[in-house]
Amino acid sequence: MNIQDLEKLIKERRSIRQWKKQEVPDELLRKAVELATWAPNGGNYQGWRFIIVKKKEMIEKMASAVQSVADKIASWPEAMSWQEDVNRYQKNASFFRNAPACIGVFSGVYQSPMDKVLVARESFDREAKEILGFRRSAPTAIQSAAAAVATMLLVFHHMGLGAVWLVSPIQAKKEIEAILKVPPDMDLICLIAVGYPDESPQKGRKPVDQVLEFVY
Ligand SMILES: Cc1cc2nc3c(=O)[nH]c(=O)nc-3n(C[C@H](O)[C@H](O)[C@H](O)COP(=O)(O)O)c2cc1C
Repeated sequence: MNIQDLEKLIKERRSIRQWKKQEVPDELLRKAVELATWAPNGGNYQGWRFIIVKKKEMIEKMASAVQSVADKIASWPEAMSWQEDVNRYQKNASFFRNAPACIGVFSGVYQSPMDKVLVARESFDREAKEILGFRRSAPTAIQSAAAAVATMLLVFHHMGLGAVWLVSPIQAKKEIEAILKVPPDMDLICLIAVGYPDESPQKGRKPVDQVLEFVY
């Protein structure tokens, strides 16, 4: 693959939120997850787990759980301060119920050797506690899962599929983990809804120089 093809692949991928009814073959889903596991990850620990859900009732159950938490949050008086945004968010909370497939991404806790030392000292050493706080502010397990998800989305796009990375379902973490019977040592990181795209959204990016700085 030359750099132009790679650039096209990266720039033409969009988050897709409307899908055709067409089923997604298991082999494509399996291949996308397999390629995602080649993403860089902390210590090559590979503490991630993926659950591919194709059962419509189960996807609907997860979507209803997310919607019901969104409805609850929107009903709280504090929501009045951001009414318009909250309403929009509430309206879109469970669109993924129409996805032909939904992938749950989970992660176990990853402790590097440094984390182990810091945890052993945090109760009596303020500096160790502070450094541990820095490490916890950008957890390796979540960064690793994110690398896998980003890879998977590109693979899906290359396959002619359309997917969206969904973190908002985390608000129904407890319900989703129960629906999918996830072991207690695994935490939901996100869902990925995927199918054959039935929309072609356009989205741009800020010019790179607005977000980039070189230091020589
Ligand atoms: C960490 C993360 C969380 C996201 N969560 C949601 C979400 O909960 N719901 C949703 O519709 N899109 C979600 N998205 C998709 C973003 O809205 C989308 O990537 C962004 O608007 C840029 O659009 P594009 O992916 O088409 O380039 C998420 C993306 C990322 C990376």
